Amino acid sequence: MPFGVIQNARKVFPAQDLGRGALEDLVALDDASFTFEEGEVVSLLGPSGCGKTTLLRIVAGLMPYTSGRVSVGGHEVQGPYGDYGFVFQAPSLMPWRHVLDNVLYPMEVLGRNDAKARERARELLDIVGLSGFEKVRPHQLSGGMQQRVSLCRALIHAPRLLLMDEPFGALDELTRMEMNDLLLRIRKETGASILFVTHSISEAVYLADKVLVFSRRPARVALELPVTLPNPRNQEIRFSHEFADIERRASEALGIVTGHSTPERSTEAAR
Ligand SMILES: Nc1ncnc2c1ncn2[C@@H]1O[C@H](COP(=O)(O)OP(=O)(O)OP(=O)(O)O)[C@@H](O)[C@H]1O
Ligand SMILES: [Mg+2]
Repeated sequence: MPFGVIQNARKVFPAQDLGRGALEDLVALDDASFTFEEGEVVSLLGPSGCGKTTLLRIVAGLMPYTSGRVSVGGHEVQGPYGDYGFVFQAPSLMPWRHVLDNVLYPMEVLGRNDAKARERARELLDIVGLSGFEKVRPHQLSGGMQQRVSLCRALIHAPRLLLMDEPFGALDELTRMEMNDLLLRIRKETGASILFVTHSISEAVYLADKVLVFSRRPARVALELPVTLPNPRNQEIRFSHEFADIERRASEALGIVTGHSTPERSTEAAR
């Protein structure tokens, strides 16, 4: 059985929960199905509002699903289970804690904040290039540095699954590319599976073993695209024909270009 199974997942937000005036239920996911293996990186692309964050939250057990089946590591997801790290678009660090204590927070919650945890936290901070910043407060760091701290925090308890929701969306392109390479290194080191939501087609292709393109809401998988690029990757690969070809197929599935290379833009999909 695959490590992660999302089968016919459906999520309906009932009208009565949507505030006054909402007459119809909101169907966020409908019949979304895909699987992923241990250590696999899967990029999730799709129009704004289609249901990607909802899907990640469901996989994390942070939100119940209406019907279908969702399992991770052979266990049905029925609530938060701890064996994942979640990285959000905004770093969401605790401003009153210094960097090291932010990274160690999950270990505090798990009651495992021991010397070994502190050693691993320092090691992770070193991997992401933040050695020497352990005692600095978040506001003294750049956005990219804060996001690297968030990544360490998501990895500190050695989860087998990393859920990332547009984690590098707010970064400049150069920092973003560095973060992409960093993530691939971390993936190699930890062997964790990664579900990575992004609006950047190029980032989706660069990182992934497979790209899933979701339809407009209600989200379902419109295209599953294996990324047959060689590993390990480096930035040169972005200029290869094969890379461009995979980007084009993802763009077609998003409706940004047609199959006949007409540059017809869909503003929502291209956000
Ligand atoms: N807690 C909630 N209650 C009601 N509706 C919700 C809730 N969370 C999300 N939705 C709705 O579900 C739909 C999908 O939202 P979601 O945040 O999953 O989209 P998304 O694909 O992540 O979009 P974006 O790319 O803009 O982040 C939207 O119409 C949104 O309004
Ligand atoms: Mg989202």
